[in-house]
Formats: sequence, C-alpha cells, structure tokens
Amino acid sequence: MRKQIAAANWKMNCTFQQGEKLLDDILGAEIGLSAHRFAVFAVPYPYLLMTRSELEEEQNYYAAAQNCHHKKAGAFTGEVSAEMLHSMNINYCVVGHSERREFNAETNAMLADKVNLCLENHITPIFCCGEPLAIREAGTQNDYVATQLKESLFHLPGVTIKNIVIAYEPIWAIGTGKTASTEQAQEIHHYLRSVIAAQYGEAIANEIPILYGGSVKANNAKELFSCPDVDGGLVGGASLVAADFIEIIKALK
Ligand code: PGA
Repeated sequence: MRKQIAAANWKMNCTFQQGEKLLDDILGAEIGLSAHRFAVFAVPYPYLLMTRSELEEEQNYYAAAQNCHHKKAGAFTGEVSAEMLHSMNINYCVVGHSERREFNAETNAMLADKVNLCLENHITPIFCCGEPLAIREAGTQNDYVATQLKESLFHLPGVTIKNIVIAYEPIWAIGTGKTASTEQAQEIHHYLRSVIAAQYGEAIANEIPILYGGSVKANNAKELFSCPDVDGGLVGGASLVAADFIEIIKALK
C-alpha cells in the first residue's frame, strides 16, 4: 500500500514550550504507526532538534522543515539550506506552500531547485500545489495544478520522483473552514495521478502519496482520507490542537 501521511504544518504558531507540550500530548495518545502509516510534524526551524528528539523512539513519526532555500549555500542571511537540514537528520521538508508562493514570491522554477536540493540531501520534499479561488471559479484548476507539477517536478527521472510526496491544497480552502468536498478532492487527486502516469507510467504514479490540505479537521479527515486517491492530509489549524490531530492521525487508511 502507498504511504499514508498525516502531516502537521504548525506555520508560525506556538512558543517552544507550547510546541513541546503539543508533541507530548500527541505522543501520549500512543497511536502505534506501522508499515505504511506516517505522522510528520513541520515545525519552525528552531524547534526541529527538539521535535526530532521527541520523536526519536517512535516508529514512523518524523520532523519536517517548513521550507529550505533554493540555493545550495552562500550569502543569504536568515536562510536555511537543504544540506543544513540533512546534517541535522531531518528527513522531510515542505516545499512550495501557497503562503510562501504568495508572500515570498516563490516561482515554479525556484521550487524545482528546492526539490532538487532536498532530494540530493536525502530529504523527502512535500511538494505543495493548488489553485486560487478565481481559477477554481473559471474551472481551469486541472491545467493550473498540472503546470505546477510539470514546471517543478517533471525534470526528475522516474526513479527519483517516486521519492516525493505531493500535497494538493486548494488556496480557497486553506484556513478558511471551507473544505473541498470529497468528490472535488478525489477528482483532482485522480487527475494529478493521471498526469504523473502519462509522464512516468502507472506504476510510479501509484507509488506517490498525494495528501489533501485545506481545512482538514477531526470531523472530516476520515471521509476525505477514505477517497482512493487521497493518501492523508497536510493540516494547519487542526494540527495545533492535540486532541484534533490525534483523531486526524487515527483517520489514516
Ligand atoms: P489549514 O492549513 O488546515 O489551516 O487550512 C493547511 C495548510 O496550509 O497546510
């Protein structure tokens, strides 16, 4: 079975102490994850080592960065490279979240560079794609997200693209309480998989986890994750409440 992943995206929330308590509370639920089920915590950079050591004894629980820089190294004050993350034993990194695309002007080409640097450093990129409301209203969301994949991922050879995770996050559903319906989620996830299959073949397309993000909550996770092409979620708001994120992890297939 494909990897199923509940990924928490804390964004710029929680003090260090609140973050530690949140992790303690979630781990206290003792949800044993085995084989194909994973929980990932994308935390602010200064919390990565704490998170990694909290999760050390747990099977299939991982710390993730929320971003890395698109250049290898150099005079980029305040930035963090994929190599630095690798040197701290960090195995996942969110790449191309819509907030970074918007507020930090990240382009598809820059994201291709970030994906390359992650993979070179043995870090699994959680590559985000998704359309704004105007594109959804115009009905052109499929072309929009296919272009995001093509321009940031399709330079990779098949043996490499297998190692990434995709998160489809419609921008109109992020932090709005408006979730895509299960039909909308399944339809576009299936479409994304077919675009990958057309480029790389069915076998590779079937290996890549495609997470849904955008107002995933404790009360809708099970339904969303039950869609055949939805392999878990990237979760913002609800990942900051231990009881909610526990339910979301439990909702994985
Ligand atoms: P949300 O955020 O769950 O608060 O909508 C999701 C995300 O931005 O990753």
